[in-house]
Amino acid sequence: MDKLKIEGGPTLSGTIEISGAKNAALPLMAATLLAPGAYRLSRVPRLRDIHSFCNLLEHLGATCRWDESEAAVLHIDTTHVKGWKAPYDLVRKMRASVLVLGPLLARMGRAKVSLPGGCAIGARPIDLHLKGLRALGAEMELRDGYVEATALRLSGTAYYFDVPTVTGTENLMMAAALAQGETLLENVAREPEIVALGKMLEAMGATVEGLGTETIRIQGAPELAAVGFENIPDRIETGTYMVAAAITGGDLLLEGADPSALDAVIVKLRETGCSIETGPGFIRVQGVERPESADLTTLPYPGFPTDLQAQFMALMCVAKGASVITETIFENRFMHVAELKRLGADIRIDGRSAVVKGVEALKGAPLMATDLRASASLVLAGLRAEGTTVVNRVYHLDRGYEAMEQKLAAVGARIERIRE
Ligand code: EPU
Repeated sequence: MDKLKIEGGPTLSGTIEISGAKNAALPLMAATLLAPGAYRLSRVPRLRDIHSFCNLLEHLGATCRWDESEAAVLHIDTTHVKGWKAPYDLVRKMRASVLVLGPLLARMGRAKVSLPGGCAIGARPIDLHLKGLRALGAEMELRDGYVEATALRLSGTAYYFDVPTVTGTENLMMAAALAQGETLLENVAREPEIVALGKMLEAMGATVEGLGTETIRIQGAPELAAVGFENIPDRIETGTYMVAAAITGGDLLLEGADPSALDAVIVKLRETGCSIETGPGFIRVQGVERPESADLTTLPYPGFPTDLQAQFMALMCVAKGASVITETIFENRFMHVAELKRLGADIRIDGRSAVVKGVEALKGAPLMATDLRASASLVLAGLRAEGTTVVNRVYHLDRGYEAMEQKLAAVGARIERIRE
């Protein structure tokens, strides 16, 4: 398995181009199952998770092809999709595979999708996806680790989510787009990825109101049509490189970023002393020698994203004082703590909070990546630590960050991939 070797110390400066969002591209790809035809998705990042989702779509009968002249353009043709089963082997590689449940059920009238099971960051049930689809009229059975769902034609309904769930909202939106009549979804997730999916469903022929608010109203269409659609920038990748500027006391211009999707992160980094300038399509972050400490609580959008909690914790490890970081979305998202401590960080976990006492210096060490965002936090800490840090099991990082080591090396990081 590949590793990343980092010599800490350099101050990063220069420009990083932000890729398309992984967590928006996945639901857009799932939406191609709703109507047969040829789709052109642009600004799609070339990541392991995207390749895994292509494998799943191909298993169902679609074809996926990267454009030969434009690197980030993915062509998906769903004309010959006949399949309706997402097997365990494909789903276990990536939980987001569950996104095919709503569209398959809506278009094929049935779907058999492996239950994703727990993962490193928490139990992550999909009960709300299932309840919502039942409310739309699906018959649902759980058997041998699979959800088996059938429905002759889904029909519009009102459904209230107990907690806002990102992929749950997306599954229901896709199902509702082909359902008969109107569906009212309440207490939905408001993430920019949801808005992107809603706009694609509109372009395909559904009527969608309330995107970006807690209530979405969808008028289903008897048929939808294939479209071309441009994906949004990755706000989590952007936030990760914002912390890279902050933790190295550097100066990074993040081009192609959407500052409006990062309000909570901008406010928080300013609190730590960073200077941040924003404009249409860019964010510039200038760090300071040693950040001020700041407390943080993760919340559904527009709150501070759980997907940036680990990266922010890496920054707080070298802050001037103590900070309390509280994770409210996932019950087990502190696995980076033990690894950060190996670099000399002073962190104590107390239930859902971590108390981080900033130290003057971190010292490089070999580390083990445990999940995608935890891996990113270890790379960030390694950029600051004195000496050599080796991050093992980089495949986690490859699931969600496009060319991370090249992007960081281009702005002055001493980082290399060791292939094994
Ligand atoms: N939840 C339930 N029941 C459900 C669904 C969710 O109780 O049926 C709970 C979860 O256990 C969790 C909370 O609701 O406590 C929110 O989870 P959510 O469903 O919103 O998470 P998700 O849709 O599975 C997406 C992202 C994650 C990101 C979370 C939270 C994708 C493909 N994944 O997951 O991204 O952390 O939203 O923002 O969009 C990542 O990219 O590293 C990543 C993990």
